[in-house]
This record gives sequence, C-alpha cells and structure tokens, in this order.
Amino acid sequence: MDELVSVETVHERGSWLFTAEDAYGALEEVVLVPCGDGVEAWVNRCTHEAQRFDTGRGVPMRNGQLVCPKHGSLFDACDGHCDNGEAAGTTLPAVDISTNRGTVVLTDDDYAFRHAGGIDDDEGPDSTSHLSL
Ligand code: FES
Repeated sequence: MDELVSVETVHERGSWLFTAEDAYGALEEVVLVPCGDGVEAWVNRCTHEAQRFDTGRGVPMRNGQLVCPKHGSLFDACDGHCDNGEAAGTTLPAVDISTNRGTVVLTDDDYAFRHAGGIDDDEGPDSTSHLSL
C-alpha cells in the first residue's frame, strides 16, 4: 500500500496526477480529484478517444466534473460517469484508493505506485521503453 498525497493537497490543487504500473508492467497515468470532502481516482484517459484529462497542468474541472479537453464531455468526479457529448453512456475506469488520517493510499491490487506526475515525468533509466508501449 502506497501513500500518495494528502487529501488537502488534492483539494488545494484541484487534482493530482501520478503514474502507476499495472499487473502486466505497463505504465498508466491516474488522477486524483476531489469528491465531496474526499478524493476519487480515475485513469487519466477519456473513454471516447485516448485523450488525457491532465496534460501537465492539472485536470480541467467544472462543477465537480472532469472536463475532457478534446471534445468537452463531462465526467462526474465521484462516480466517473458521463452522460453527455461524445463520451455519453460511459464510465471512467476506477482505481481503488482509500484515505488514512487525511492521506490518500493506493489500495488497488492491479496497480503499484511508481512516481508522482505523468509517465513523461519519469526520469528512470528505462522510461523510454515504457513510452513505446
Ligand atoms: S476524446 Fe474525450 S470526449 Fe472525445
């Protein structure tokens, strides 16, 4: 279980991006977004096309919803569902997290925390091999 960031920081910044590794060794970007007083985690990719929500400047948010930068579909930050635009009728893939004394903890068996920020922010020696996947 990896401690990620404080709930307070996610609320202050509006969102928080990190990179996780899935069970197959592929890297996946995940965003934390405020939901009520808590936080939810979603894969950083629109369900319509492979468009990132957070492209390096935080997730565009409007009224508790994630805004897809490409076609403008809105996804509920709490349940990940979209009922409008190009992505209507879809739900974002969830990533399991919990909070422990104000800190967000990654609890998803399918993902291991790698680093804060996007995949491109990885400064590890083998980052380019992941990017080509
Ligand atoms: S890529 Fe997100 S709505 Fe089209």
